[in-house]
Amino acid sequence: MLESYLTLKPEFEIVMMEPQDCHEVSVLHAERFPRAWNDGEFHSLLSQEPVFGFVARQTNAFLRKPLPGFVLARHAAGEGEILTIAVQPKLARTGLGWRLMQAALREAQARGGETMFLEVDGGNAPALGLYRKLGFEKVGERKAYYADDKGAKSTALVMRRVLR
Ligand SMILES: CC(C)(COP(=O)(O)OP(=O)(O)OC[C@H]1O[C@@H](n2cnc3c(N)ncnc32)[C@H](O)[C@@H]1OP(=O)(O)O)[C@@H](O)C(=O)NCCC(=O)NCCS
Repeated sequence: MLESYLTLKPEFEIVMMEPQDCHEVSVLHAERFPRAWNDGEFHSLLSQEPVFGFVARQTNAFLRKPLPGFVLARHAAGEGEILTIAVQPKLARTGLGWRLMQAALREAQARGGETMFLEVDGGNAPALGLYRKLGFEKVGERKAYYADDKGAKSTALVMRRVLR
């Protein structure tokens, strides 16, 4: 019995982010980004009416696992924006980023959105791969926009996708 639980292929559902998720979201954010957003920052963003998010949850976990992934987005006046997205490194390339993004795109469209924007470091190959696969195209760039902890600068790409 235990053995069959342990060998179970993980299954995930994508559900709306709730205020009680903010702590786990901030923990994963801190793991994946050099400038972490804390629990309070996520709470404050999520309490704004135009902001919404989704989290991935494993539906067949035997023990409670760290949050698999999340996305946070905003929609106002026909335009959506992806604020941040992250997936557990252990679950990379299993399709969670894609599913989270699809949920955010659908929600923005349901709220009347016509386009979705995002900003990404031009050197972030996994994120660029994901966004291009979803149909995002580069519409601008900000040179030397990001700086890492050693001061090295990189370009931010602004990308857009029409929501239909
Ligand atoms: C970007 C990120 C969310 C992608 O999540 P993911 O769950 O691994 O992505 P998916 O498994 O859904 O991949 C979907 C597609 O994205 C692209 N992709 C994902 N990882 C990639 C990689 N390492 N290199 C190139 N393309 C990649 C591929 O096109 C992939 O489709 P395929 O597997 O059929 O080829 C994840 O790498 C992450 O959390 N990164 C750290 C945080 C971050 O950089 N967030 C974005 C800030 S703008």
